[in-house]
Amino acid sequence: MNPTPPTAMTAAPHAAMGPTPQAAMTPAPHAATSGPTLEVRGLQTHFFTRAGVVKAVENVSFSVGSGRVLGLVGESGSGKTVTGFSIIGLVDPPGRIVGGSILYQGRDLAKLTEREMRGLRGNRIAMIFQDPMMTLNPVLRIDTQIIEAVRAHTNLSWREARVRARDALGMVGIPHPEERLDAYPHQFSGGMRQRVAIAIALLHRPDLLIADEPTTALDVTIQAQILSEVQQLCATQGTALLWITHDLSVVSGLADDIAVMYAGRIVETGAASSVLDRPLHPYTHGLIGSVPSRNRRGQRLRQIPGMTPGLLALPAGCAFRTRCARADAACAVDPDAREVMADRTTRCFHPELDLIA
Ligand SMILES: Nc1ncnc2c1ncn2[C@@H]1O[C@H](COP(=O)(O)OP(=O)(O)OP(=O)(O)O)[C@@H](O)[C@H]1O
Ligand code: SF4
Ligand SMILES: [Mg+2]
Repeated sequence: MNPTPPTAMTAAPHAAMGPTPQAAMTPAPHAATSGPTLEVRGLQTHFFTRAGVVKAVENVSFSVGSGRVLGLVGESGSGKTVTGFSIIGLVDPPGRIVGGSILYQGRDLAKLTEREMRGLRGNRIAMIFQDPMMTLNPVLRIDTQIIEAVRAHTNLSWREARVRARDALGMVGIPHPEERLDAYPHQFSGGMRQRVAIAIALLHRPDLLIADEPTTALDVTIQAQILSEVQQLCATQGTALLWITHDLSVVSGLADDIAVMYAGRIVETGAASSVLDRPLHPYTHGLIGSVPSRNRRGQRLRQIPGMTPGLLALPAGCAFRTRCARADAACAVDPDAREVMADRTTRCFHPELDLIA
């Protein structure tokens, strides 16, 4: 994967974090198509390493509609970032997409040339990384970086682009944006750097935003503030948001829908409230039980037994088999995803339907 993506990749903010003007700032959002903004079908991204083929993303499917938020949740190493990088075209050798499709407004991103992808990246599709320095160049002033990002996808003059850069900083709540434009990234706090990265990601009002744990390193107050601001922005602008996190408490307040990932596979999907209230897959159940909750105050947290197996040493059949209390002989075959309740899919032979009250 690319550790230092080019400026154009993140480019692009637009409207409204904090009180602000927005009209002059950016083009109108693109016209929505009738289907979902993003539809990932059967995606497979593998890394061809000396030790073997690491199937980091294996037959992954989900979709995100305009103005909707999908929380992609799973433990470390489950394949969340590789999924995001696959969508935005940043998987580097020895990794590559070996199967499936990534339909963005009906176009398969997996089939685009790098040149075509550059036209979308940072413009119609943007990504916010966990580390804002993935977006920011440490040796360039902030104004230079945002202006470059603006001009990569517009015909604005340098002066006009600088005005837009200033407005973008104001919109993400950076005080004295005119002065701060002259600063270098190291002159910002971690929270402010992330705000700059978010401003750049939102510059061109993307149709699709992928946010990869962007608030994990921030303190909880700033985290909550940024979450609600990004959520509001996406809702008002019709941006489809894929929010990647290992933190269920984040998705519970933010996401409309949830997709749970384990060992490169999506094991459960559904409306966020439904999945959190009534997890069907034993892994989701364990994940929820291991998170502190006000409702379970005083009770011991449950742990999922065992360790996440390495992707080169997965058990045959269901990947969760060695940790699952419900496993039986049927689980020696890898289950397909199936709809077991209205709008709820799970990849399990023995979903926890019996636990539903
Ligand atoms: N360049 C690479 N070569 C080999 N394997 C890789 C490479 N990049 C990622 N992987 C593997 O792909 C799997 C998924 O990684 P990924 O970074 O997507 O996990 P993640 O769910 O984002 O985890 P985290 O929560 O820690 O960020 C991991 O097992 C990882 O080791
Ligand atoms: S398929 Fe079997 S092993 Fe896998 S999660 Fe379901 S019950 Fe457990
Ligand atoms: Mg990750």
